[in-house]
Amino acid sequence: MTSTIAGIEPNDRALAVRWRDGVVSEYPWLWLRDHDTAALHPVTQQRQLHTAAVDTTLRGTIAELHDGDVHISWSDGSPVSTLSGDFLSKFRVPAAATTDVPADRVLWDGEIIVEQWPVVEYAHVMDGDAGVDAWLRKVAIYGFCIVTGTPATTQATERLVRRAGYVRETIFGGFWDFQADLSKADTAYTNLELLPHTDGTYSHDAPGLQLLHCLAFDGTGGLSTMVDGFRIASELRAAEPELYDVLSRIDVPGQYIGDGSHLMASRPVFRHDRAGELVQVSFNNADRAPFLLPAPDMDLFYDALRAFEALANDHRLQWRRVNPPGEAMLFDNWRVLHGRTSYTGHRHLCGAYINHEDYESRLRLADASGA
Ligand code: OGA
Ligand code: ZN
Repeated sequence: MTSTIAGIEPNDRALAVRWRDGVVSEYPWLWLRDHDTAALHPVTQQRQLHTAAVDTTLRGTIAELHDGDVHISWSDGSPVSTLSGDFLSKFRVPAAATTDVPADRVLWDGEIIVEQWPVVEYAHVMDGDAGVDAWLRKVAIYGFCIVTGTPATTQATERLVRRAGYVRETIFGGFWDFQADLSKADTAYTNLELLPHTDGTYSHDAPGLQLLHCLAFDGTGGLSTMVDGFRIASELRAAEPELYDVLSRIDVPGQYIGDGSHLMASRPVFRHDRAGELVQVSFNNADRAPFLLPAPDMDLFYDALRAFEALANDHRLQWRRVNPPGEAMLFDNWRVLHGRTSYTGHRHLCGAYINHEDYESRLRLADASGA
């Protein structure tokens, strides 16, 4: 049992906690005071303690272990604090803060995904929270999930997407419903090929989830092409670490010009948190804004872009399929790249965006409920 406390040892600076497996963690006195649950408002869970006002000489005078929890008396005479062993165990190993929701990701290629292609039933999702949890957990594992048996209407699709979270308003509106009519200044509104990309490279907070549902199609072509961006990352990192590094450190600007807007944002293709975990893949060659770096980096950037595109367009890594009416697809736009081949005929698509933080929130609640 790693999370059971074997012993505690106060020192001048901190409380040392020795765990059953022999690991020793040190918690500074001010940190312990700052994280006392009694310092939280019982309803809002917000911190009531004015941390900066705590005496800098604060020390624990007595520290005791009762039933796996730590009780501390304070040098400034404030009430005894209790910190649970469970809570302390979450911070056994000091590390940069991360908000990642843990997931057992399957980094798929075309072969893997054809064999274990994630689906849920529309009725299951509409029935109750268990269905929504199952749906979003599959998105967390595979980066996408198809909802079968979705009635091919905008109303039913909108009801479906609202089960996952609230719809985000963007330049394209809220819930959208579109055909190849160039009603927006975007290639998505034509029948041209769209190479694998992520949406919203021009937004500081790119759309988190995207739902697409084809309501009608009477032509040829129009295959959806999906690629796992985290799989691209792992292959590139192994094969060409220098180019992986280039795509992790160089900010690439994206832009959207039209419909009364000029949006711009920039970030690296591979964005990591400070703990070094990959958190987002962003790539849209069509929406890239002009930028010029000093020569060595500019050359490296183009080398890295070629290497990235070679993987993104490699059929070995892609899932290629015409998603028929009735099969709505929800995907993580921070992980999976999507595209579609060119097509002829009439194609009617609808869908929406959901913020990544709302999706993460839903996953945390699902994990907490253990359902
Ligand atoms: C998009 C897009 C894919 C499709 O709208 O951003 O990539 O299948 N569409 O039309
Ligand atoms: Zn797109």
